Amino acid sequence: SNKNVQAKLVLLGDVGTGKTSLVLRFVKGQFSDFQESTIGAAFFTQVLSLNEATVKFDIWDTAGQERYHSLAPMYYRGAAAAIVVYDITNSVTSSRSFYPILSLTCLCSYDQASISFVSMHSCSVSDCPYDQMMVLFQESFERAKKWVQELQRRGNPNLIMFLVANKVDLEEKRAVGNEEGEVYAKENGLTFMETSAKTAQNVSELFYEIAKRLAKA
Ligand code: GTP
Repeated sequence: SNKNVQAKLVLLGDVGTGKTSLVLRFVKGQFSDFQESTIGAAFFTQVLSLNEATVKFDIWDTAGQERYHSLAPMYYRGAAAAIVVYDITNSVTSSRSFYPILSLTCLCSYDQASISFVSMHSCSVSDCPYDQMMVLFQESFERAKKWVQELQRRGNPNLIMFLVANKVDLEEKRAVGNEEGEVYAKENGLTFMETSAKTAQNVSELFYEIAKRLAKA
């Protein structure tokens, strides 16, 4: 008869990388261009039926804002699998050039919990009051590496870890090459996938791969 697996899955990654969007694409088949920033964490469940097993996911979607970092261990403790997400359009090296392009919809207010993605303010490079936050916002690939290190040190030793490069629909704004993610993942024993929560590219494949690994474990 069919095996039943229940597994805790946690998503970690910088603010705005698309963690909630990936989960909502998987759980509800939906996507919003105006997804609000997560406060604390959000919980979802979803069941995937494979030939060899039925996998019930208990999904913890954590908040990427730095102020919530200290809560993260509560969510990755006891997790069987983790998805560490970064955004291919932002990296340290792209932070400066990225800025002027988006100057009309400055992303720097995004880290203010009370201000949602739709109400971003306008500013120019020189007078931006949130310049420091803006730079932080650009560092999602570096932030992903920090999460991987933290999970390697403090997570479950048998943790199944996936590194996910999201927003591949924004190819023209790509700042982190496919090979960069792939090489880093290989060096660190992670499974690497590029996804788009917007177009659904590779999203069900991602959760299927995790379910298959969990069914084998
Ligand atoms: P926090 O909760 O603040 O940590 O953010 P998050 O990682 O959960 O990101 P969220 O899902 O809230 O997405 C942030 C923004 O990116 C939203 O405006 C989404 O619509 C957008 N977004 C998410 N995934 C994609 C994607 O694959 N492609 C594009 N173009 N936009 C995306």
